[in-house]
Order: sequence, then structure tokens, then C-alpha cells
Amino acid sequence: MERFYVTTPIYYVNDVPHIGHAYTTVAADCLARYKRLKGLDVLFLTGTDEHGQKVERAAAAAGKTPIEFADNVVGRFKDLWARLGISCGDFIRTTEPRHKRAVAHIWETIAAKGGIYKGEYEDWYCTPCENFLTETQLVNGKCQDCGRPVDRLKEESYFFRLSAYGERILAHIEANPGFIQPDAKRNEITSFLRTGLRDLSVSRTSFSWGIPVPGDPRHVMYVWFDALTNYLSATGWPDDNGRWPADVHIIGKDILRFHAVYWPAFLMAAGLPLPKKVFAHGWWTIEGQKMSKSRGNVVDPDAVIEKYGVDQFRYFLLRAVPFGLDGDFSIKALEGRINGDLANDLGNLVSRTISMIEKYKGAEVPPPINSQDGPMEEDIRGRFGAPDVTYSQFMDALQFHYALDGVWLPIRLLNAYVDKSAPWVLARNKEEEKLSNVLYTLAEGLRVIAVYLHPFMPASADRIWDALGIKGGIAGRSFDEEIKWGGLKPGVKIKKMPPLFPRVEQK
Ligand code: ME8
Repeated sequence: MERFYVTTPIYYVNDVPHIGHAYTTVAADCLARYKRLKGLDVLFLTGTDEHGQKVERAAAAAGKTPIEFADNVVGRFKDLWARLGISCGDFIRTTEPRHKRAVAHIWETIAAKGGIYKGEYEDWYCTPCENFLTETQLVNGKCQDCGRPVDRLKEESYFFRLSAYGERILAHIEANPGFIQPDAKRNEITSFLRTGLRDLSVSRTSFSWGIPVPGDPRHVMYVWFDALTNYLSATGWPDDNGRWPADVHIIGKDILRFHAVYWPAFLMAAGLPLPKKVFAHGWWTIEGQKMSKSRGNVVDPDAVIEKYGVDQFRYFLLRAVPFGLDGDFSIKALEGRINGDLANDLGNLVSRTISMIEKYKGAEVPPPINSQDGPMEEDIRGRFGAPDVTYSQFMDALQFHYALDGVWLPIRLLNAYVDKSAPWVLARNKEEEKLSNVLYTLAEGLRVIAVYLHPFMPASADRIWDALGIKGGIAGRSFDEEIKWGGLKPGVKIKKMPPLFPRVEQK
């Protein structure tokens, strides 16, 4: 069975989950669900990044030990993922023994090949970003990325020979154009690589909340050396690495350099294969503003779900913005999508179809009567064959918004079909065969649409199937089989249900 391995970043536990975390994780879930439907054996990994000075400081400020502090935040992440329907097969914590073992092993492997040496470090360090900066990278003496004050660090340190890998990484990127996506992001990385790389300090003696350097426990490992290795440790490496390399690391654009430069260099130094793809998505602004704690505009996914629903949130995240670009999260836009795409288009189609089958056909799916087919039915069936190719291409390319755009074409087509075929007129005129054919076409169209929607809105897609009287959910079925026209069995009892997507009051 073909395997597929997709990851999210592992999230820092110094903060509670926000929309940025939800975004990456929902996108990865969508891809994982799609690949499972396509019959692949999927490993979908997420987790938490628990070491480093940032977490140590946050724990101290809360009067807790780092692990107590981490345990609590990990609980928040796991609860949110359960609520959001995240189908991750594994959740890795960097404080777990399996991870520590793998990190120690990759360190020793690289050191044994001469990739790590001891020296002295003196430079600027931004603790919120866990990143080193040279004098020229400071902006008004502050961090170029987050604008916060930096610390001067001078200490004995182990160094990783990053400078030796710039050319090799460039060559890899050139030979594998799909390695870094989107293209604009790849260009940023190649420009960065062309400026040349300095060796990287990969250990600290100034704090202790980290994984000790093998053989020199005064040092703890640089948190990114520790964190990036999670992708490998979750596969069971070094004992069993049948799962490595990852097919895709989905990350935010702010951490691309770590994934597209440092991580490949560590892997090359250890003699391990590189991940096949690193996909960097964009950032959300909130109502036009940068999201930040100090602005007090951090979007809490739980609050959005509470008010609008899980699938409404999932849908918005993946539909509002092309994956890879920046976008804006606003209540107006969210409510607009819910009332427009979800309530008017999809919800309406479901409720009309179900209530007409109830009213005109005794709540039983009628049989198709092909002798009654006209140009509209032929058009519908023709198009239901068609979206698969583009849908699959878009899903494989992580272009979720285009895939959804494509699914809305048959939804709109079926709504127009209801209006044009006017089943209420057919019922009045006792054109029973024609009526059966129309209602079957609608119900069967909806069944197939639900399959396309499953990766995006798993609970709602299952509710559509349930309403159509289909037993069992969509997960675990075969995409290729289920999108074929004609799968719905005539004679099954449909089920009335409350509106799938209630309209929201817009201000
Ligand atoms: O970076 N819009 O952890 P993190 C979209 N531990 N995405 C956003 C966002 C926004 N406004 N704000 C943050 C780390 N993100 C490391 C990763 S992986 C080996 C280690 C995204 O908790 C951001 O791009 O800071 C990143 O992908 C994630 O949320 C936050 O990760």
C-alpha cells in the first residue's frame, strides 16, 4: 500500500492555540483525509515543541515547572484538535523519550561525521523567535522579524557546519522545483542561500530546559535542532525509518528558513534523505491588523467554533484564501461565506432535496428512470465525471481553495436544476417518472458532492450521507469508487434533519 507522510509544525507550548495553529493543522488534516480516501496509508503527525528558553521563561512566570506548564498547554492543543476533527495518527511531544533518543542519535551521527565542533559564540539572540541575528540583521537594535529586544549571548557553544551545505541545498532546490512551495517562497530561499551561510550555534549553556548534548551535559541543544528532528523521531527512527522521508511538511511562512535550509542541512550531514516537499502557507491578519497579544486581537479557535461551528470554521480557513498567500480573517467575511456558500448554496440544496423526497416520494429515494433523461440530466452526469481530475490535481498541489471552487460548480448546477426542472410542477402534473428521475439525480449528485467535501468538512459530509439514508461515514471508503455516478440505492429511507448550516444574523 502506498504510504503518505504529512506533518504540521510542532507548536510551542508557551502559548495557547490560536488561528495560526488551527490553520496549518486543518490544512494538513484536509490533505490527510483526502489521501486516505484515495487509498494511501497515511501518517499524519502533529505535536508540541516544549523545550527552550521561551518555554522555560513562560513556565517560571506562571510559577510552574516547565513540564507542568507544558502538560497543561498540551491538553489545550489536544482538546482543540479533537473538537476540530483533526485525524492525526500521532501527536509527538519533544519531552517524550522516543524523541530525546532520536535527537541524541542524530546529534551523534552528525558529530561522528565531523559536522559538529565546539567553539565560542557571541552574537545577538531573539528569544521569542529562538533565532540568532548578526549586527546587520538588527533593525534599530531590535529583532528584524518580530521587533522585540534581543539579548547578547557569549558562551561556549557547539557549532553545526551549516556553511558547508549552502551549495548542496541550492543544487537540490534546482533539481527539485517542487521541494519548496509556493514558487515565490522558493525564490526567497534561493536568494538567502546565495548570500552564503554561517555555521550555526546548536547548543547553550545559559539555561537547562532542553535535551543535553551527548557526552557534554552542561550544554543543551538548540531548540530548533531538537524540534526539527521530531519529524524523524515520530517515525521510530533510528530503529525503524520505513516512514521517512516525509511527503510534505506543511508550515507557516515564518518558519520556512528552518525547514528549507537548516533541516535539509542536518539531514544531509546525517546522511538521511530530505523531505519531498516543504509547503509554506501565508499569514492571517485579523480585521486588517497584524495579529498580536499586545493588540488583543488573537483569534481563539474555540470561540469561533462555539459561535459558528466546526465545519464553518474549517471551510472558511481553506476557502477564503489561496493556500500559500496571506489573507485576512474578519467576522464579516466569515459570516458572508456561511450565509452564502454554506447556507444558500449547499445547505439549501440539501434541505430542498430531502424535503422534496419526503413530500413527493414517501421519504424513499426514488429510482432513476433513464428514459426520462433530457439534456439537463446528461449535462449533470457529464460534469460529475469531470471535476475529479481537477479536484485531485488541486488537492495533490495543496490548492485547497481551487478544489473547493470546483466543488461549488456542481452545487450551483444542481440548485439551478431544481429551479429549472421544478419538481413541484411535475408533482402537480403527476409526471411521476420524470419526478423520480429528477429527485434521484439530485440525491445522487449530493451523495457524490459529500465525498468531495469530506476532507474539508468531515462531519457535515457525513450528515449529508446520513440524511440520504447511507449507513456509515465516508472515512474509510474509496474516493475513486464513491465518486462514480449511480452509487445511491433507490428505496432507502431518507432522514429529515435540522438545517446543515443555519444562517447567521449579519450586522
Ligand atoms: O514556530 N497566520 O511554533 P509556533 C497564520 N515550534 N499562521 C500563523 C500565524 C498567523 N497569524 N501566527 C502563527 C513554531 N502562525 C515552532 C515550530 S517545527 C519543527 C517547530 C503559524 O507555535 C506559524 O506560521 O510559533 C507556525 O507555522 C505556527 O503557526 C506557530 O507555530
